[in-house]
Amino acid sequence: MSARSEPGLRAPQSGTEGDAVTGERLRVRIAAELARARSRTTLLTEVVDDADLMRQHSPLMSPLVWDLAHVGNQEELWLVRDVGGREPVRCDIDELYDAFKQPRRDRPALPLLPPAEARAYLGTVRDKVHDLLDAVTFTERPLVADGFAFGMIVQHEQQHDETMLATHQLRSGPAVLHAPPPPEPPAGVAGEVLVPAGPFTMGTDTDPWALDNERPAHRVDLPAYVIDAAPVTNGQYQAFIADGGYTDPRWWSPAGWAHRLREELSAPMHWRPDGDNWSYQRFGRWDRVRADEPVVHVCWYEAQAYAAWAGKRLPTEAEWEKAARWDPVTGRSRRYPWGDDDPTDVHANLGQRHLRPAQVGAYPAGASPLGVHQLIGDVWEWTSTTFRGHPGFTAFPYREYSEVFFGDAYRVLRGGSFGTDRSACRGTFRNWDYPIRRQIFSGFRCARDARPDESHR
Ligand code: AVJ
Ligand code: FE
Repeated sequence: MSARSEPGLRAPQSGTEGDAVTGERLRVRIAAELARARSRTTLLTEVVDDADLMRQHSPLMSPLVWDLAHVGNQEELWLVRDVGGREPVRCDIDELYDAFKQPRRDRPALPLLPPAEARAYLGTVRDKVHDLLDAVTFTERPLVADGFAFGMIVQHEQQHDETMLATHQLRSGPAVLHAPPPPEPPAGVAGEVLVPAGPFTMGTDTDPWALDNERPAHRVDLPAYVIDAAPVTNGQYQAFIADGGYTDPRWWSPAGWAHRLREELSAPMHWRPDGDNWSYQRFGRWDRVRADEPVVHVCWYEAQAYAAWAGKRLPTEAEWEKAARWDPVTGRSRRYPWGDDDPTDVHANLGQRHLRPAQVGAYPAGASPLGVHQLIGDVWEWTSTTFRGHPGFTAFPYREYSEVFFGDAYRVLRGGSFGTDRSACRGTFRNWDYPIRRQIFSGFRCARDARPDESHR
């Protein structure tokens, strides 16, 4: 059982000795999570020089120094000013680092804090946060209950660390990031898993640091379906390419085909033909495409076309979550495929520990009870579902985190990637992006309806 799901950490009552212990444990945990996020942020922004930090490596991304100061500004807004009720550190820069006021393509032209000033700003804000963390009481006020605001800020920084990793993948020049390779699989994984018909609980009411779009818990009844036991691999994807998948409009949605033509898509992003095979560039190094690794850097349109070519479809978001959380023995939904415990190195490829997806089968300890592998980590998985609030959704603590993105423009991705930290990834966590996007660490797996002879076994 993780600390965060222990009943003792929930809704402290007033003034008992047990509460003091609980509050102290929560403080220690928050301090550790803040420090872990900051060491990642520091690493990602110290491996390049100041000119590189100020530069825009792609119109899709911010200069790294924008992400850096934006992380500090969000921390100031929510923790220093709101939770702590303290005087602003710098209210003159709020507008610059407001993601809604400044579109990404315009950010390099802004009068941004230079790197040294941005680092000093983050340090000042963090010192104040430690000061107020010592004094805060985790009251019933929803923003601070169970340390929610601190958890939200930890996740925010970690999300920007994944965004900064995607920026690193887009920057040209020699490699500056290094990591050991992921574990070798003891055995491969192939084939499909039948998920029997019936209801399950989607979303959560109890995970204290779950964000608004993961709430509330609600029942969803699904017909029987079949889902791939592992994400689609490079080898499988190459078969689609070799079969003319990119030149046959039959497999593509009309919008996807128009996009494919306009952008002249012919392979995943960062791939180039290499004799009979393909190579791809990862963080400044060229490597051969490995057949048994999950494919990454494909957009939703490519994923959908592959699935159609394979005679399948993308899973719905509910199908993904049932495969990841439903325990057929107890009927309850777990926090993760393997149970309720937080991820460790044996469960999933998370946290930028390895800078690429692991081969399929590399995480048998992370499989779901039904035998579905690598739902968490490796690659974000596109689902067929557009981004909406769960039934009974309420925006908390601000509409701009989720609600303003609800509608048909975005597709949901689930499960996290090798670039995602464990604090910003769980069985209920929801990500979203435009169907054309592929600079993110996005892959997919396929699903299909169960045939009558399969579902009545
Ligand atoms: C949830 C990854 C889509 O990066 O736009 C960061 C996370 N929200 N700052 C994003 C986020 C505000 C968000 N995604
Ligand atoms: Fe942000």
